[in-house]
Amino acid sequence: MKSKLSDLQKKIKRLETLVDTSLAFSSILDIDELLNLVLQKAELVMEAETSSVFRIDEKKKELYFQIARGKKGKEAKEIRVPMGKGIVGWVAEHGKPLLVPDVTKDPRWYKGVDKKTKFVTRSIIAVPLVSKGKVIGVAEVLNKKGNRFFNDDDLELFTALGNQIAVALENASLYKELDELFLSSIRAIVEAVDAKDPYTRGHSARVVSYALLIGESLNIDKESLKELEISAILHDVGKIGIPDNILGKPGKLTEEEYAFMKRHPEFGAAIIEPISKLRMLIPNILHHHERLDGGGYPSGLKGSEIPVSARIICVADSFDAMTTDRPYRKRKSISAAFTELKQCSNTQFDPEFVEIFIEQYKNKKPLAETEQ
Ligand SMILES: [Fe+2]
Repeated sequence: MKSKLSDLQKKIKRLETLVDTSLAFSSILDIDELLNLVLQKAELVMEAETSSVFRIDEKKKELYFQIARGKKGKEAKEIRVPMGKGIVGWVAEHGKPLLVPDVTKDPRWYKGVDKKTKFVTRSIIAVPLVSKGKVIGVAEVLNKKGNRFFNDDDLELFTALGNQIAVALENASLYKELDELFLSSIRAIVEAVDAKDPYTRGHSARVVSYALLIGESLNIDKESLKELEISAILHDVGKIGIPDNILGKPGKLTEEEYAFMKRHPEFGAAIIEPISKLRMLIPNILHHHERLDGGGYPSGLKGSEIPVSARIICVADSFDAMTTDRPYRKRKSISAAFTELKQCSNTQFDPEFVEIFIEQYKNKKPLAETEQ
């Protein structure tokens, strides 16, 4: 009776894991985060020491780790397993799940990974990840804790999880494709805007790379970084509404012309307004010419009233303006531009972002120098 009860409890626990993970599958968009969570749950319920997900490199006919959990995960990530080799290679090739209670007794066992990671594998469950009839990867759990062996219940549960993982991977790559299509459409529009003014060719792309230099050092989540990137791409999209004779004027603008030029952030906001996916970026675009002391435009916002992304784009945009030739003046040297950014910290620019930018620019490959 007692054992029946504990069997039932185990079954319920397994069912809970499947329900939990299927909820995660519908709510988490970041594929690595999702896989980590699912594998962690699988390890818990199956009392496994560690687990991994492999993907297939079709060109090289190799398997590589998408996720390698556990203490040796970092070392494992470097390793590639030839198709057909070892347990995972066999599963990838045959598209069938495999339960190997004792790897030392299985001739298919490939010691290469353990040798490099110093991990000792005793038992494995490996399941194929099949999408649209095609094996796209392999998921595995290693070593049942307490020197025990995996059993058929474990195999059944992990096969079910493998099916969910395969769907998630397929969705993630579809989502990525859509996202790339979306981004490349935006880039095409912006390149058309940049092209209106021969002096600012490549401006938006450089502003993106400068803004990301700052953003990537800020410990912000992927989603916010993406928003910063798209805002930076689009920051000057409103220039599409500025006549060519103002945009490309070889001399200084008249007061009237300058007043009109200053409306480009508003035009940008108006262009983005109808696109629901981009609407939340409007403040970043509208306020990229505000100054920390309140003397900027269009709203005269001060300090932290200015959105973070707008403050970052302002530094990136100004640096690119300083270091490229304009119709009425030659460009500054990089070091002179750094000096000006520092001099205008606290009045025009956020000093934290100026400091990070200069430090990161010096550390990393500067796009401006190679493109000019
Ligand atoms: Fe601008």
